[in-house]
Amino acid sequence: IDISKLRGTTGGVTTIDPGYKNTGSCVSGITFLDGEKGILRYRGYSIEELAEKADFLEVAYLLIFGDLPTTAELDKFHADIKKHAVVDDDVKKILDAFPKSAHPMGVLSSLTSALTAFNPSSVNVESEEEMYNAIVRILGKFPILVAWTMRKKLGLPLYYGDSSLGYVENILKMMFKQPNEDKYTQNPILVNALDKLLILHADHEQNCSTSTVRIVGSSHAGLFASLSAGISALWGPLHGGANQAVLEMLEAIKEDGGDTKKYMGKAKDKADPFRLMGFGHRVYKNFDPRAKIIKVAADEVLGDLGVQDPILDIAKGLEKEALEDQYFVDRKLYPNVDFYSGIIYRAMGIPVDMFTVMFALGRLPGWIAQWREMRLRKEPIGRPRQVYIGENERAFKAIADR
Ligand code: ACO
Repeated sequence: IDISKLRGTTGGVTTIDPGYKNTGSCVSGITFLDGEKGILRYRGYSIEELAEKADFLEVAYLLIFGDLPTTAELDKFHADIKKHAVVDDDVKKILDAFPKSAHPMGVLSSLTSALTAFNPSSVNVESEEEMYNAIVRILGKFPILVAWTMRKKLGLPLYYGDSSLGYVENILKMMFKQPNEDKYTQNPILVNALDKLLILHADHEQNCSTSTVRIVGSSHAGLFASLSAGISALWGPLHGGANQAVLEMLEAIKEDGGDTKKYMGKAKDKADPFRLMGFGHRVYKNFDPRAKIIKVAADEVLGDLGVQDPILDIAKGLEKEALEDQYFVDRKLYPNVDFYSGIIYRAMGIPVDMFTVMFALGRLPGWIAQWREMRLRKEPIGRPRQVYIGENERAFKAIADR
């Protein structure tokens, strides 16, 4: 039965499922997730294998088009992206108009939406070819917006990047190249770490931001407008904003003397709004497989860079206590992908309020893949119903009589 045909008429059946805990919004062939067993696969490939063996651009291709690319396919994809790795000069003016204190996620969402004005051919896309052109455009331009957002924050002049480099290498150079640095040398440890982090964040089926991208796109708003809405959804601390919130929480615990037990107590106290950021997940009721990989990567990156970060010890301490605590065990609250990612970003020299922007950079191919799938399947406009609980019909009272 096609239930979409049963609904849409007054008096039909309406299910209520706040937070859509048990409601599927679509069928999808992109990402498989088993939250009980802690399994995550992109297009059938395990996240563990992809994080170890693939690079981010290959994974982006896999998510968007369904198969791992051949060398020729990947080269063409990268070449097409590079053709669009420029941003209109007027976009710089928009960036300039933001105060330096602006949160980078707000800036990124606005600039992504603004790109629509400068790329009108990316708006009303119907054919696969038009979709492809919009996709390589945004994959070329988005890293520039990310890097510029950070450079503005740090007071660095804007820099367009180096087309001779790999996709992720170029992102790092765009972010970190200093004005008088003639010979910028790439640190392979950082390139590998960022590649891995971006792969781990690349898709996660119908989460809050992805559902947002699909629902905005279902009205046939353009790709860039749909992505801009997804960025706004990701910003919240219960979603992508958690990576910033985790680091701020770990810092606060450190400043407060490192008493993890005190914060465990606060997290369990229902009268206290404090939550242990980076713990819990709507779908994973077992270890988040991404968190396992990131924890190992955090150890490796800090070790390779020779960074001693007391925050890592606090994080490990919290995790150990939570795994032995009945409150967390009963509710199946395990560290999620964001619990350790901020520690790596910090070691890379990325400012804390840029962490969620880095998540957006990783999630970009997933959002694109889900938008493309939704459009190719010709899904109807997303329009949930409600159960009305307001007043019955009332007679209007003139303002003088109220
Ligand atoms: N600290 C303390 N208690 C928690 C936490 C936490 N981090 N997370 C959930 N709980 C408790 C809730 O209080 C609730 O307890 P109760 O049953 O006694 O009322 C129970 O666990 C279930 O929590 P819900 O909020 O109902 O679970 P939901 O699936 O709606 O929320 C969420 C999931 C938003 C991720 C939640 O666990 C949370 O707020 N975590 C902290 C923020 C965070 O890390 N978000 C990132 C998620 S991953 C991502 O988006 C990339």
